[in-house]
Amino acid sequence: MVEKEHVNLEKIIIWSDPKWVSLIEKKFTEIQVKDVSLLFTRSFENKDEQWVMVISESTLGQYETALKKITSSRNFNFVNIIVISRGNSFRKSFAELSEFIFFTLPEEGVDLYLQKILERVLHYLHLFFKGHKVESELVSVYKDMRSLTRVGQALLLEKDFDKLIELILEQARKLAQADGGSIYIVERPEKKGEKPTKLRFKKSALNLNAGEFTLNIDKNSIAGYVAMQGHHISIDDVYNISEEKEYHFNPDFDKAHNYRTRSMLLIPMKNHRDEVIGVIQLINKKAQSDKVLTLDDMRGNGVIPFTDRDYELLSALAGQAGMAIENTFLVSEIKELFEGFVKASVKAIEQRDPTTSGHSSRVAAYTEELALCVDRSDKKALKEITFNKEQITELRYAALLHDFGKVGVREKVLVKAKKLYDSELSIIQWRFRYIIKVLEKEHFEMKYQLLKMKGAEELEKIEAKMDDELEKNKQKIKGMFDAIVRANEPTILEEGDFKTLESLTSKIIKLDDGLGVRFLERPEFLSLSIKKGTLDEKERGEIESHVSHTYQFLIQIPWTRDLQGVPDIAHAHHEKLDGTGYPLGIEAAKIPVQSRMMAISDIYDALTAMDRPYKKALSAERAIDILVDESKRGHVDKDLLDVFIEANVFRKHITSIIH
Ligand SMILES: [Fe+2]
Ligand SMILES: [Fe+2]
Repeated sequence: MVEKEHVNLEKIIIWSDPKWVSLIEKKFTEIQVKDVSLLFTRSFENKDEQWVMVISESTLGQYETALKKITSSRNFNFVNIIVISRGNSFRKSFAELSEFIFFTLPEEGVDLYLQKILERVLHYLHLFFKGHKVESELVSVYKDMRSLTRVGQALLLEKDFDKLIELILEQARKLAQADGGSIYIVERPEKKGEKPTKLRFKKSALNLNAGEFTLNIDKNSIAGYVAMQGHHISIDDVYNISEEKEYHFNPDFDKAHNYRTRSMLLIPMKNHRDEVIGVIQLINKKAQSDKVLTLDDMRGNGVIPFTDRDYELLSALAGQAGMAIENTFLVSEIKELFEGFVKASVKAIEQRDPTTSGHSSRVAAYTEELALCVDRSDKKALKEITFNKEQITELRYAALLHDFGKVGVREKVLVKAKKLYDSELSIIQWRFRYIIKVLEKEHFEMKYQLLKMKGAEELEKIEAKMDDELEKNKQKIKGMFDAIVRANEPTILEEGDFKTLESLTSKIIKLDDGLGVRFLERPEFLSLSIKKGTLDEKERGEIESHVSHTYQFLIQIPWTRDLQGVPDIAHAHHEKLDGTGYPLGIEAAKIPVQSRMMAISDIYDALTAMDRPYKKALSAERAIDILVDESKRGHVDKDLLDVFIEANVFRKHITSIIH
């Protein structure tokens, strides 16, 4: 029995002497090859590969010319020629051409030998086509593997969820030669532990501008059914779904869009817990991948059923897609978690000092905007400085958390509005009231002694004078207290005022028990004589320590690779270009550009923020003037400040911040 199931007759042409045609037909029929007559009439085409079988007597001039024409023509990619002939003249003519396979007929008994030779030829062709089929299958498996590997790599690299969905759909369609398709994603239930009930339509490949919508995960839609069951469905013709099936096709889409859905393949995408997280739905497998389908094609032969190979490939793709989607979910969950943590931290700082409320968010907004402007800037000094998305995020976190270390500063120092704490001023106030009471007591005692020793008349003579004296002294004491209250304000005092205040430290009022009360204690005087602001050296050091606390806090966080610069950026937000900043005292070259940008935003916001108990808010113009001064003194970066001013960075955020 001749094996011929792999012989591709479409690729064979027989040239033969007319007198041999019926004999050849007979012999082919005997070996059960039908339609041989077709092989005689088929014309030679320029196809990838073709076989020409010449069966002839001895000298065949006409075939020789034709064959030479074929073998010398460049139009034919590949030709195999089998020559069955009597004698060797042919063999000699084409000896140098390897495409030729020769079989020699004997002088006698052609009838018997021809059958044998045809059987051998057929067997040879069988082996050839079988080998060829295996080879092309191998090539296609290799191609599939390569496509899947490439898709897998692309899916892993894509971090943007919408782009990922688009990529999955595009690759799925390509792999299965589908005309259309959609991706559905399972909606996460609001409460943890609940079963998902909805499927969200995310993307269609048919350019329909369809917005997102949701379907129930149930039998009312095929996609919902696949999500519910968790296994794939392949339908050859959606208009001929058996009545027994639990799912049904909804033709609304076809009607609305003048489309004809026929074949369909739906594959669930699952996560590592084997839970369905989405569905890939492919529509209408195209018979020819590069053809744009018309409605007639869709109704006719242009659409074919999806194959097992499509299912295999799509299953592999769905597996990779499921993992990639789950990864983006996990990444965004981690991001949300961290955002939440950062917001909670910012709230913790601002709750301790309500007057600085919103400071961290504003500094983050200004700095982010400034970075984007610097990124675009083509100024010579800034040309090389660019920021990608991850670096902007890094900068934002550093800015949001830059003052977090204030949680390590005592609250009374943090919110200190006057040079003296309220309790200290209150003690001084009571002391002065006491001093007045002592004066009054002495005054009345003196009057009593006079009355007792010299009588009422004498007392009356000097009483008014004594009262006057008392009143003057009381006013003097009150004046001293008022001077203390004035000195307590965070203003720059005249030198003289300090001297008056200092004299109070040596002024003592004696009491009955011999002890004295000092009008002003030395530490109180030192606080009141602070020349700038409200903080003494120690307190200033404590406030400044917030930067180190911030750094110590931030280095505890296991930042991802993209965010590793956060602690260092925040650490340098009070550094100055000339090295006079704190806590490191480093100079320009060592201060990260991100910290330099943050320093500008930080100063600007500290100056323009709402009124604080100890400081009036300045106008934007005034704040900019101060910043320009700071840049002239070598404290802040002039190039960055120029961008800050030119791009109106500070104004852009006013509205968003107010909201
Ligand atoms: Fe700070
Ligand atoms: Fe700050």
